[in-house]
Amino acid sequence: MNDRITLRRLDDMHCHFRIGSLLKEVLPFTAQYASRGIAMPNTRPRAILTGDDIFWYRDEIRRALDEMPNRYPFEPLMTIEIRDNTTPKIIEKAHRAGAVAGKVYPLGVTTNSDEGLRDFDSEKISETFRAMQDVGMLLLIHGELDREHTLVTKREEVFLPTLFKLAERFPNLKIVLEHVSTRVGVENVRQLGKNVAATITAHHLCLTLNDVVGYGIQPHHGCMPIPKDFDDRDELIVAATSGDPKFFLGSDTAPHPREKKECAKGACGVYTAPVLPQILGEVFEKAECLDRLENFTSRFGAEFYGLPLNDGTISLIKSEWVVPEQIGSVVPFRAGDKLQWQLA
Ligand code: NCD
Ligand code: ZN
Repeated sequence: MNDRITLRRLDDMHCHFRIGSLLKEVLPFTAQYASRGIAMPNTRPRAILTGDDIFWYRDEIRRALDEMPNRYPFEPLMTIEIRDNTTPKIIEKAHRAGAVAGKVYPLGVTTNSDEGLRDFDSEKISETFRAMQDVGMLLLIHGELDREHTLVTKREEVFLPTLFKLAERFPNLKIVLEHVSTRVGVENVRQLGKNVAATITAHHLCLTLNDVVGYGIQPHHGCMPIPKDFDDRDELIVAATSGDPKFFLGSDTAPHPREKKECAKGACGVYTAPVLPQILGEVFEKAECLDRLENFTSRFGAEFYGLPLNDGTISLIKSEWVVPEQIGSVVPFRAGDKLQWQLA
């Protein structure tokens, strides 16, 4: 029996690091095991929209890293939000400032998408996507649409035709369907060309809608896209563990202070950073695919982004522990549960 796994240091291609004191709380967890993390731009009050914002946010993150007692080899990969008013000029400047990607939040589908994109088809936004294609920035998409008479469980499916259109119109634009959550989403990503990939979160490999609302409302499992049916979850497990390079880790670790989750109209987002490699170890072990974990966490993402692989390794050891009920101001995923794997 395998009781130790050694992995190349991870790339977490979807992280919400936030700003201020929350940034300082959460960043050490990711930096412990990942050498790179995509820093999502939906921060508030200051969103990351331009090259100037990139300089500011990267400095914030670096300052938080400098303040940590442990020195981790960690580099944030920067992104900007793509809104209806994002121009090719903004793209060029952001690219020069080091942005590797632009993130689209369609209007109203998730935390801080109040100024999200309204129109994927306008000539104006096409020019922006073309500029991204030209400079080699990736397009990361929160692939859901909030339409009248569309249930929250159907929002990803309703978005998928837009993904097809974009992939066809911009064949050299690398597009990531972030946190894919449905069987049909996985199937569509497989069908599309090699310019399209998807990230998968750890929590979508574990949860169904039952875990969110089926046994009393569980606010700490509430996230967008909402976890779905058993066949959806099982297809995500197949995609993550099958060795298909189109699917790689993007944890979408999304911390919110406890009181913002445990209330009416609670915030969406699952905080997985403190338990991420440990949970993935469990999932891949159960699928009898531990040998494929490293490709999912540390190779396929880098390859899709066109980055060299990370140096250094981390190890997981088989040893039971209990996840704390709260870490700082936030309740982590699997709080109070026993996990089988620990970071060495
Ligand atoms: C994320 C957040 O909290 O910023 N929330 C979530 O439910 N996943 C935003 C996002 O990635 O949708
Ligand atoms: Zn996210």
